[in-house]
Amino acid sequence: MTGRTWPNVTIIRHPIVQERLTVIRDKNTGVEQFRRVIGLIARLMAFEITRDYPTTPRKVDTPLETCDGCTLSRGLTLVPILRAGLGMAEGVHQLLPSARMGHLGIYRDEKTLEPITYYNKLPPNIAETDVIVIDPMLATAGSLTAAIDVVKQTGATSIKVLCLVAAPEGIDNLNAKHADVQIYTASVDRCLNDKGYILPGLGDAGDRIFGTA
Ligand code: PRP
Ligand code: URA
Repeated sequence: MTGRTWPNVTIIRHPIVQERLTVIRDKNTGVEQFRRVIGLIARLMAFEITRDYPTTPRKVDTPLETCDGCTLSRGLTLVPILRAGLGMAEGVHQLLPSARMGHLGIYRDEKTLEPITYYNKLPPNIAETDVIVIDPMLATAGSLTAAIDVVKQTGATSIKVLCLVAAPEGIDNLNAKHADVQIYTASVDRCLNDKGYILPGLGDAGDRIFGTA
């Protein structure tokens, strides 16, 4: 959608991700299908986001003999931003059931587009873990910037963002404060409109997941 590239942004172009993204962009897709498909896309994207995770060798006894295997070396913490991040976090958690989950409640003021934080429940001792902050929409990036501020206050240094649709303006804004964070998205769309919505986007993600429009 945009020709621009950023060194810290990975666009997941897998055809199944792109085909499913097309389904949820469709304004005629209803709440039930939207919620199911957003979870599926998140699960598929989690494969890509965890591709470089370090492993530790361990032996395993099969019914026939001993062979070399591995275990994931570091703990993982998922941090969905309420509300819309919940729809994706469920899908990621299915793939990574041992991950701990923290929640940040953030909404943006409709007029100023400034993020308002209303809930913060992170697990203890997440500094040593790899943290994935999850929100389908990276628009102005106010919400993700505020979320990453909170996560960094815990001492965490390995932080990735998992989103579905990003705006170029939002990526620039996030990079201005948190250029060390890797961003994984299924699409970088064209731009924001004058109300801060992503074009072409998919509308209001929270409303479409929870049927509140
Ligand atoms: C949406 C979305 C992001 C935020 C993105 O949440 O889920 O959190 O907007 O916009 P930004 O990048 O400009 O901050 P919203 O504020 O609608 O809250 P909700 O999920 O509770 O509906
Ligand atoms: N939040 C959404 O849910 N959608 C947008 O397009 C922008 C912010």
